[in-house]
Amino acid sequence: MIDFGAIGQGAVVFPLGGPLGGPTDEDWMDVALGLAARGLGRVWPNPSVGCVLVSADGRVVGRGWTQPGGRPHAEREALDRAGPLARGATAHVTLEPCNHHGKTPPCAEALINAGVSRVVVALSDPDKRVSGRGLARLKEAGIQVRVGVREGEAKALNLGFLLHRIKGRPLVTLKVATSLDGRIATATGHSQWITGPAAREQGHRLRATHDAIAVGIGTALADDPTLTCRLPGLEDRSPVRVVFDSRARLPLDGALIRSADQVPLWIVTGPETSVDRGAALEERGVLVLSVAGDGAGRPRVEAALSALAERGITRLLVEGGGDLAGAFLAARLVDRLVWFRAPMVIGGDGKGAIAAFGVDRLADSAQFSARARFDAGVDLVERFDASDPLFAVDLSLGISLSETE
Ligand SMILES: NC(=O)c1ccc[n+]([C@@H]2O[C@H](COP(=O)([O-])OP(=O)(O)OC[C@H]3O[C@@H](n4cnc5c(N)ncnc54)[C@H](OP(=O)(O)O)[C@@H]3O)[C@@H](O)[C@H]2O)c1
Repeated sequence: MIDFGAIGQGAVVFPLGGPLGGPTDEDWMDVALGLAARGLGRVWPNPSVGCVLVSADGRVVGRGWTQPGGRPHAEREALDRAGPLARGATAHVTLEPCNHHGKTPPCAEALINAGVSRVVVALSDPDKRVSGRGLARLKEAGIQVRVGVREGEAKALNLGFLLHRIKGRPLVTLKVATSLDGRIATATGHSQWITGPAAREQGHRLRATHDAIAVGIGTALADDPTLTCRLPGLEDRSPVRVVFDSRARLPLDGALIRSADQVPLWIVTGPETSVDRGAALEERGVLVLSVAGDGAGRPRVEAALSALAERGITRLLVEGGGDLAGAFLAARLVDRLVWFRAPMVIGGDGKGAIAAFGVDRLADSAQFSARARFDAGVDLVERFDASDPLFAVDLSLGISLSETE
């Protein structure tokens, strides 16, 4: 599976075998993580969870993953598939089963009622309503519980959900497609297409696994994009489209507004947008989010991210252009970079991928660690994670993740 960092479509890795030949808890958790990845981009504001039920004699009797919109939960799906075969089985779940009565009965209760004998969990839930309580409820009922299996992988998969709950903002992935010399357009603004069809297909796959996609008004005006996911079979996976547009200049007859009744369109404005303009957009089905401005009247990135998180967005894909990318980097709010590079050189008069953001010393640069690299047709795709301490995310959940019986 191409590694964008837990954005896959849920490729299932089949267990390889434990020391005595049988699959281990870790192997089954890998399967559950593969299932969980299927929900990314479709379950916000909920986490994307996977569950595999394995009988005492080592057969898979039920599998499930969080369904679009966040319900049913993965455990419910797996239990429904297993029916009576769930009795005595081990459930491998990527996140602590819930124990609060929300719109559906708690999953901890469902596992108990189904008679599972053991529950293996990757990660405790940071949600205060759940944290530790689901595990405690299972133990009270006499079920064996093991926690922390593939914890790091589970954190990586649900980084968006974790950041949303812990920091009140979504995971931010910045995607850029450039020439070898880091240009996103020629001096005349010609930019379509720098990368080839295979790379663009990967770009659409990225869209499918994010809750929202953001561009600046410069890109909306220059390209008149629709920003939808147009991969065959994934047309219903278009994320919410978000345009950073300080003064709500987005043309009312553009492709984004024309499709606002099919795919949600949100505009993030600064505090000085005209009321009339906002109303004209709202009449066309656009959600206008007016947030605190920076000194220049543009929406502050931090404030915009809070507003998006308040509406449930856990994974945001920023697609540029250069000014918006620079603003996110200046705010130290890029967690991941996916960089598509085409084998062409545009030259110094082309438009740079990232606007200046005030770096005088190398020590002040935004720093990343390379995580993955692969070819997409003639282009190269690289993924980086933020490694600068300024970017570092403290994901200590304040709860013990040690293994317990
Ligand atoms: N190859 C690629 O990967 C790629 C991707 C996207 C775009 N592009 C190309 O990039 C070009 C457009 O890039 P661009 O840099 O001119 O425009 P941009 O980054 O898309 O938009 C910049 C504009 O967004 C508005 N904005 C609102 N809030 C902002 C904030 N907090 N920080 C920064 N800007 C904010 C500002 O206009 P207001 O103040 O008026 O709101 C600003 O001028 C086009 O040629 C497009 O084709 C290439």
